[in-house]
Amino acid sequence: MDADNKVKDSTTVDISVASSPSNLDEVPKLLSEIGEYIQRFGIDTDEIRKDAIFKCRQLFLALSTPREIMADHCWGQIGAMMAVGFGLDSGLWDLMAQNGDKPQRAPDLASSLGIEPKLLSRLLRHLSAMGLLNEVGEDEYQPTNYTKALSLPQIGNGYLGLTACTSAGCLKYHEFSRKRGWINPTNPEDTSLMDAYGTDKDLFSRVNELGYGKHLNDYLGGYNLGRRWWIHPDIYPVKERLINGADPSPDASFLVDIGGNVGHDLERFRAAFPDAPGKLILQDLPMMIGQVKNLDSSIVRMEYDFRDEQPVKGSRAYYIHSTLHNWSDDVCESLLKRVKEAMKPGYSRLLINEFVVPEMGAHWEITGLDMMMLALFSSEQRTRVAWYDLIERRAGLRIVQIWSAGAGVESVIECEVTNYEGEA
Ligand SMILES: C[S@@+](CC[C@H](N)C(=O)[O-])C[C@H]1O[C@@H](n2cnc3c(N)ncnc32)[C@H](O)[C@@H]1O
Repeated sequence: MDADNKVKDSTTVDISVASSPSNLDEVPKLLSEIGEYIQRFGIDTDEIRKDAIFKCRQLFLALSTPREIMADHCWGQIGAMMAVGFGLDSGLWDLMAQNGDKPQRAPDLASSLGIEPKLLSRLLRHLSAMGLLNEVGEDEYQPTNYTKALSLPQIGNGYLGLTACTSAGCLKYHEFSRKRGWINPTNPEDTSLMDAYGTDKDLFSRVNELGYGKHLNDYLGGYNLGRRWWIHPDIYPVKERLINGADPSPDASFLVDIGGNVGHDLERFRAAFPDAPGKLILQDLPMMIGQVKNLDSSIVRMEYDFRDEQPVKGSRAYYIHSTLHNWSDDVCESLLKRVKEAMKPGYSRLLINEFVVPEMGAHWEITGLDMMMLALFSSEQRTRVAWYDLIERRAGLRIVQIWSAGAGVESVIECEVTNYEGEA
């Protein structure tokens, strides 16, 4: 055992705290707020539903004792993740989805899938105890919307490609941080992920080596489902800002997606704007471009490492989505300067599609992703101040406008180059 591991054996808090509900006094107020939100379902925007979820979470925590919350985290949630992953790998969720909404017996499912019946019964019992699956009889279950959706690669595959391949980086973050004196890490070559698994590979190389590259790509292509995306008219006016005034020549570059993975974002863009002029160009590392399949043939695939000179000059737009958050300011500064060198003043725009973390009241999806960045990349989700510092002070670009669309939705940070004359 590591000699520095702290073993908790004394406390200043009375033990009775552990078995008292966390905040009973708040319960009536929370119940009344949730009731009000529910009255407004369907009338107001989706924000109301999200607010209701947040209050329900507060209600659950207010009613639970600290011991129950600990058991929920350490047994309930982790056991559910385990059972979900099992169901993905064994084909359980596909089979249940194919069987439809009817009640399904665990022994029948087990025999179709070659699983020992007792094992499947135990796993399904836990998922139903956690409210993720409906128990309708002894050893008999009915799918929920959630378990049906697990058969979709965009929902199911993140559990394997992201969580199962990387979670020790999160769960052992304390050891990584202690060994480095509790500093905020910024070195992309020294991450908790690498420390936990004893590797020098970054997340993308590691996941691909483990054979889960497609799973991770499916998750990346789908984690935004149901959320407003940057081209939504409420977020960024694509026609006015990009299409109008663009070079109409078919050889001109219109949109370059840097770190675009296997092209899901450009494909969505092409579907939404089939008449946009010029070329759409997908750039990513050779490892990723080699995995591109079934991509609209009009989209150009280009192997490119963003640490090198940007080969596409004077594009109408350069787009970077959920990629800068994987990297420290030093790496991002160099990437942004490579883009800046390629941009045509007065014509090109750089669109950074990322969260802007509010200083207060941040949505849990943003803070949760920030924890992933911390453990898996030694990087961060940036606040407005941090974005200005990186883009304007360090990279020498100008932020024209930050286009935002509410809590838990990524913003578009629109940037331009002004009178570029070499390094800023
Ligand atoms: C978090 S993913 C985001 C993918 C995509 N933009 C999206 O939002 O779904 C980061 C992407 O950056 C790519 N990447 C990592 N290092 C890179 C590099 N040095 N040059 C180019 N792309 C890189 C990865 O392969 C991956 O596809």
